[in-house]
Amino acid sequence: MYDKVIKGGSVVTPDGVIETDVAISGEKIAAIGPGLEGNEVIDAAGHFVIPGVLDVHVHLALPFCGTTSSDDYHTGTRAGARGGVTTLIDFAIPYEGDSLNDAADNWHRKAEGKALIDYTFHICITRWDEHKDQIEGMVDRGFSTFKEFMIYESEGWQSDDRALFGTLEKMNELGTMLLVHAESSRVLDELIERHHTPELMAEYGAQLHAMSRPNFIEAEAIQRAAKWCEITGGNLYIVHMSTGEGADIIRDAQKRGVPVLAETCAQYLVLDDAMFAREDGHLYACCPQIKKPKDIERLWEGMNTGEVSVVSTDTCTFTREQKAMWEGDFTKIPMGMPGLETLLPIVYTHGVRKGRISIEQMCEKLSSNPARIMGLAPRKGSIEIGADADIAIIHPTHEIVVDPATMETNADWSPFEGWSLAGFSRTTISRGDIIVDDYKVVGEMGRGKWLSRKTAGLTGAKQIESAELSI
Ligand code: URP
Ligand code: ZN
Ligand code: ZN
Repeated sequence: MYDKVIKGGSVVTPDGVIETDVAISGEKIAAIGPGLEGNEVIDAAGHFVIPGVLDVHVHLALPFCGTTSSDDYHTGTRAGARGGVTTLIDFAIPYEGDSLNDAADNWHRKAEGKALIDYTFHICITRWDEHKDQIEGMVDRGFSTFKEFMIYESEGWQSDDRALFGTLEKMNELGTMLLVHAESSRVLDELIERHHTPELMAEYGAQLHAMSRPNFIEAEAIQRAAKWCEITGGNLYIVHMSTGEGADIIRDAQKRGVPVLAETCAQYLVLDDAMFAREDGHLYACCPQIKKPKDIERLWEGMNTGEVSVVSTDTCTFTREQKAMWEGDFTKIPMGMPGLETLLPIVYTHGVRKGRISIEQMCEKLSSNPARIMGLAPRKGSIEIGADADIAIIHPTHEIVVDPATMETNADWSPFEGWSLAGFSRTTISRGDIIVDDYKVVGEMGRGKWLSRKTAGLTGAKQIESAELSI
């Protein structure tokens, strides 16, 4: 007799969708097959039973743009759970004088005692000369992914080519991976300055955010980072890729065997820059910004052809009051938007239900690929015997209208407000505990655990037994 059995659902396994039962003992998946018996039965008839989602790009309680992002480990992990997310990866950023260890300690303090779901951090390298000799120590501490920003000089976060090159060399040595925010800083600064006039701001308002960031700003930076990846052999992961040009560069590099992967985010798959013309258009400012309909189509295509390995959110929530800090100046908008609660519903509704991707592909992009690439497989990311019992149960057609007033996310707006979406999690299970029941959060706050990792990236993933990446 097992502790819990999920009965009668359509289970998305690495071998395809099977009508079967899933048994849980303690924190683990113990059996998959028909006719299983458990002390507690979770009825999944008429539902998909899918692996818990990993949102591997999240910023909780992040000091940024002169304020602090409004979702912390309490609201952010509750929001995630409601959206079927059972693991998140945040970014630990060292501030002035901080070592990489200090950054990790600081982020541990933000999470401890608050998180509902499991979590870990990418370690951000913001001052190469100071941080380069600390990387190996962080790997020993259980961190296998690092991050550099090619922009954000004013935040003190920007890395130059020397830092990118040197970090990628280290990633190659250590079997770890570098995540890069790829935008071309100097040309971007120049274009922002050209657009930053009282006349243009009066005429175009928030549209200037998009007008000052043409697609080549991202494409040139991805191209350059991919070149350093090719030369050094270090694993590279382009975060929040938003352009069709980016996807073309990734395709060409992958064809040459360059160990570069890319993620996009839910907003880049469904929103375009026409949003900036709305009266509340400034709410939609994130970095990089949402692009054009042709980019949306190319990114969906990349989900099928392999240039897009992962979909995440880049959750960096700001309330209307925080967004109002812009006061008509597009350079002062706190950049980012909520996302954890709507990632799965957006990809399910606009991907699977619209026939753009299959349910198996969705689970690859939201669960198995992020787990393997981030060094969390085989523990996380698939419904397999021995894996953590991290599971979401979703109804194929039941829709819920996105209404910030009824959501866990700490925001009084949503980029998808009023949208009717299927794919919210009816039941979320994290390491065997039911944390969402009947679409409501019921789990105990603080139960989420930090996850230690050893490797990451394509080469890291290959070291993991049975981890055949399907990218
Ligand atoms: O707008 C965004 N993305 N805010 C968070 C910082 C980043 O670049 O990921
Ligand atoms: Zn970024
Ligand atoms: Zn981010």
